Amino acid sequence: MKGLILSGGKGTRLYPLTFTSAKQLIPVANKPILFRVIEAIRDAGITDIGIVVGDTAREIKAAVGKGNRWGIQVTYIHQEQPLGLAHAVKVSQDFLEDERFVMFLGDNVIQGGISGLVEQFAASDWNSQIVLTRVAHPEQYGVAELDEDGRIVRLVEKPKQPPSDLALVGIYMFDHHVHEAVDNITPSWRGELEITDAIQWLVEHDYQVYPYIHRGWWIDTGAPTAMLEANSLVLEELTPKIEGYVDRDSEVDSRVTIQKGAEIINSVIRGPTIIGERTRIVNSYVGPFTSIYHDVVIEDSEIERAIVLEHSLIRDIPARIQDSLIGRHVNLTRSPIKPKAYKLTLGDHSQVGIL
Ligand code: TTP
Repeated sequence: MKGLILSGGKGTRLYPLTFTSAKQLIPVANKPILFRVIEAIRDAGITDIGIVVGDTAREIKAAVGKGNRWGIQVTYIHQEQPLGLAHAVKVSQDFLEDERFVMFLGDNVIQGGISGLVEQFAASDWNSQIVLTRVAHPEQYGVAELDEDGRIVRLVEKPKQPPSDLALVGIYMFDHHVHEAVDNITPSWRGELEITDAIQWLVEHDYQVYPYIHRGWWIDTGAPTAMLEANSLVLEELTPKIEGYVDRDSEVDSRVTIQKGAEIINSVIRGPTIIGERTRIVNSYVGPFTSIYHDVVIEDSEIERAIVLEHSLIRDIPARIQDSLIGRHVNLTRSPIKPKAYKLTLGDHSQVGIL
């Protein structure tokens, strides 16, 4: 089997973080989501992996390279415009050839990996297998209707009256018949070739499409709240490790990971939390569900349930920072210069909540 990771798209829901950079490279518990996706596919025994890239191709290629680090072989597939998940399959036909493959959305995080489902599909003669999970609000998702034999009958996008509570997870398995399906569907009202329409086409043409019911958690990290949620869930599963320096005046609890070269000075760190390489936390409090990435400085401040990306500086902030996503090279400091006022330089689409 081959693997296909979709890592193009626009990422508009995560602006401004993804205005110029790839959302798939945002770290969750200090590891880019895309790396987690690659590892899940590799751990399922698949080493021939295609990555669909768009505007952020350069950044993704620089981060992933040829894939040697994971013992895989990466082929980059350029998608001129994000014209839909089925369009991404269409532009990948030369890479996929007639092989069976697993397609994984590059911004999805799933508990427990995908080895079980890849094994089940590889052993079957089904034409496609889609991953479903039970959700509390199916009306917000793509939902599947199954018949008595457990076969997929219909897929409906955000139904007002959901036929089940089984939502589609961003992982799909296909054989070569999907190419016929993507060639026969037309763009939806939003101008995209939808993968749900391609699956529906397979069902209507009597191909065998079966579900795999995933029982752990699964997060589509497309929006800021989901990104923080995924970060919290992954942090809870992390095995803590202290590789950096903690001074005697600091209090670090048992669920904290401190990466190489990090320094914790006169601070309190409550887990589950991860502090990145060469990051300095001084006279500060870092609360649960926080990932501070590499080369960050936090001084005289408090932060909790947040993600801070590399090379940012947070100093002398009077209120606790919470439920926040902070980008790269951000400077968040108190200014002694009069007038006493908020002095902001914010990018397009920034969101700031002030006390
Ligand atoms: P989405 O989250 O559906 O789309 P998006 O990334 O453009 O985000 P937004 O809605 O916030 O603008 O995409 C899911 C994944 O698939 C994501 O990793 C990007 C990727 N993708 C492609 O590679 N090609 C495409 O044509 C589309 C639509 C998405």
